[in-house]
Amino acid sequence: MFIAAAVSFYLLLMLHCPAPSSATEKSPCDTCTKLVDRFHKGLEDTSKKNFGGGNTAWEEKTLSKYETSEIRLVEIIENLCDSSDFECNVMVEEHEEQIEKWWFKMRKKYPDLRKWFCIETIEVCCPSGTYGPDCVACLGGAERPCHGNGFCSGDGTRLGDGSCRCKAEYTGPFCLECADGYFSTGRNDTHSFCSECHESCKTCNGPTNTGCKECKEGWTKGDGGCIDVDECSAETSPCKETQYCLNTEGSFSCKRCHESCAGCSGEGPDKCRDCATGYLLDEDKCTDINECDASEKVCVRNNENFVNTPGSYKCVCAEGYEDSDGQCEQKIIETEDGEVAEQNISTNAAEDPVDVHEDL
Ligand SMILES: *[C@@H]1O[C@H](CO)[C@@H](O)[C@H](O)[C@H]1NC(C)=O
Ligand SMILES: *[C@@H]1O[C@H](CO)[C@@H](O)[C@H](O)[C@H]1NC(C)=O
Repeated sequence: MFIAAAVSFYLLLMLHCPAPSSATEKSPCDTCTKLVDRFHKGLEDTSKKNFGGGNTAWEEKTLSKYETSEIRLVEIIENLCDSSDFECNVMVEEHEEQIEKWWFKMRKKYPDLRKWFCIETIEVCCPSGTYGPDCVACLGGAERPCHGNGFCSGDGTRLGDGSCRCKAEYTGPFCLECADGYFSTGRNDTHSFCSECHESCKTCNGPTNTGCKECKEGWTKGDGGCIDVDECSAETSPCKETQYCLNTEGSFSCKRCHESCAGCSGEGPDKCRDCATGYLLDEDKCTDINECDASEKVCVRNNENFVNTPGSYKCVCAEGYEDSDGQCEQKIIETEDGEVAEQNISTNAAEDPVDVHEDL
């Protein structure tokens, strides 16, 4: 049939390209399931179509209806796989006859295409709750694999070994035990429920910190259960010289000291152990020294201003002047008449009280 011709031509093209090995590992069951989904979409997309001018009585009698026609099947199959989907195209190529068989003969009796095609005919999927080549029930039974507390390896496919990968709360081969950090809130042969311990417990048998069996790191056994360890009260601080220690529940953090401090016991300039260079202790706070107040003039160049900064100072050229070869030279501006000094600005700057160096 001509479907085969189209797909074969496509595969010929594909042979020249390397198989996409980098693509995420996809099981044949995934490929088949996707293919069936696309088939259903194709059915939907073609549901309003007909042979073009509508089914005449003659067409209905002789060609059969479009609805069940080969033309419609071909249209659907053409759109089953993306052109880049190698696995899908191979699957269609290999099993096209079965798809046709279903379309023409089995559809009435087996309306579920995925069940008929993927599970029973080409045998790449299993009914959910079963796994492996023979579709064996998962641990815990096909009804509730892993007792509803995990995922069965290979569930619904012909792959896997049926073992359980438990959700975070559960452990054990059947996902019936509680994992560390969780305690049981109910259990029988088929069901098990676990809840999270208090944050201070590594293991527990109840919801509060008094229910801890072992304490988590950062906590220690106290009178009423596990209590926070104050890491900051240790004789040697766990933080760097330039940081202070902040205790938190179950842990601690190190924070930067205020910039005026050389070492500190907490936040702010009043918690300094010593003052940083450029700062002096003043009213229990490390305060910036204003180098401007120094008896000796610090900014000595002409047309230069003094600017105090936290912990230090800068010497910068006055407005209208710029640094040039280590001197503050008058700025030159371009005008229509040629180069002219920024006379007006600099005149103003000279009268400006910011120009402290004049008064020093
Ligand atoms: C086990 O517990 C579940 C949920 O609490 C319950 O539905 C089920 O009937 C119980 N099974 C037995 C055998 O007691
Ligand atoms: C500079 O000041 C003079 C008067 O002092 C004024 O005539 C001139 O327009 C000013 N130039 C600029 C560029 O502001």
